Amino acid sequence: MPRYFIWTIGCQMNKAESQQIAGYLDSAGCQAATSFPHADLVVLNTCVVRQSAENKVLGTLSLLKGLKNDHPNLQILVTGCLVNSHTQELQRRFPHVDLLFKPGDYPELIAWGQKQGIPIEQKLLRYPRNDAGMAPSPCALIPIIQGCDNFCSYCIVPYRRGREVSRPVEEIVCEVEELVRRGIKEVTLVGQNVDSYGHDLPGHPDLADLLNELSGIDDLARIRFLTNHPKDISLKLIEAMASLNKVCEHLELPVQSGDNDILKAMRREYTVERYKELVHIIRHKVPQISLSTDIIVGFPGETEEQFEHSLSLVQELRFDVIHVAAYSPRPGTIAWREYQDDIPAEVKKERLNKIEEVQATIASEINSQLQDKEVEILGEGRKGGKWFGRTRSNKLVFFEDAGDWLGQLARIQIEKTSPWSLGARLKNN
Ligand code: SAH
Ligand code: SF4
Ligand code: F3S
Repeated sequence: MPRYFIWTIGCQMNKAESQQIAGYLDSAGCQAATSFPHADLVVLNTCVVRQSAENKVLGTLSLLKGLKNDHPNLQILVTGCLVNSHTQELQRRFPHVDLLFKPGDYPELIAWGQKQGIPIEQKLLRYPRNDAGMAPSPCALIPIIQGCDNFCSYCIVPYRRGREVSRPVEEIVCEVEELVRRGIKEVTLVGQNVDSYGHDLPGHPDLADLLNELSGIDDLARIRFLTNHPKDISLKLIEAMASLNKVCEHLELPVQSGDNDILKAMRREYTVERYKELVHIIRHKVPQISLSTDIIVGFPGETEEQFEHSLSLVQELRFDVIHVAAYSPRPGTIAWREYQDDIPAEVKKERLNKIEEVQATIASEINSQLQDKEVEILGEGRKGGKWFGRTRSNKLVFFEDAGDWLGQLARIQIEKTSPWSLGARLKNN
């Protein structure tokens, strides 16, 4: 059987799908390779959310073209959001690619495998890996809803991933039970908007119902989910977070802008005031919550003053983590059709740096409050001779110990803090 290497960029959804592809290939007896040159079969799991991501994908595709010239037997599979409905056109552009399949289109992968004599099992088997690329990891990513119905004006995702389709509660519970039997301790439920989970299912179960069901699985220690949408997140969900012990105190709640006119042009369907109110409710109900957000700078027409509104929101709300991105026009989207990309690249860069700079100070202040505190982490793997894991609030922690902490909950004491990660020592329980 071929040795495979999966190259992944993009969001957690892509990471989840790569874990699943790895599981499928393993089921056929394939083995994982550590890099392109060691593989006979490579899978590119692509992202096109911004031009920079797309460029990386195109660069890797041309690198593989060279590799295939030297090794004509190399098989190249491409999935993820580069793959749109025009697969024939893509096939013409990239004749060295052996198979293009849309995100989540596993029947296509399985059928191709069969033709190649790679007997992939139909059964869903996930193969979690940690951030250091090591397997197995005790943390699994579980897609619960595919696609997106929102059409934020800047965003290409709905065009590439299609309309929302939720997986039935029983199917997810069954899968998580099976993973837990195989040693998984933490699951992260993923979807572009997990707050729409279930609206298309009989009886309309929602995310809070799903969290309740999963909480009943005995040996599962932690549950996370992402991404939430400020226009849809419900009080019921916030209360479920507050009351269910296994649900970790962390939320990804992208605000995108601190200016109401820009939010309107983005078609986000909430106001800055509503967003602030939500944050206050969440912090009141779940006092330990850590909050992440996404911000786009340089959206068409964004004035200096409108940008300052984003900056002051950042200063006021004090997020734990912010992902800032410079606006990148995506062909086919509403913003691409309706607005000029009129903010110069240098101005976008300046604004991006400004937010990152302010955020670095805030994150360093927030994290320094953890100094000397005792917290729980789940051992995920080893990197640079140290164990690493995450707190319930999703902060990355490193510690040294000769024991085996993979998949174990450990009590640790924080010794060192920075805006990005923490250092700790093991507490003798
Ligand atoms: N479903 C999630 C994530 C979508 S993509 C959500 O609703 O937030 C991840 C992030 O990429 C977005 O939150 C947004 O901040 C950013 N993004 C999406 N399209 C973009 C574009 N055209 N230019 C710059 N950033 C973009
Ligand atoms: Fe894109 Fe908006 Fe959907 Fe998120 S909610 S994937 S930003 S369209
Ligand atoms: Fe990228 Fe697709 Fe995710 S465009 S961000 S991989 S949904």
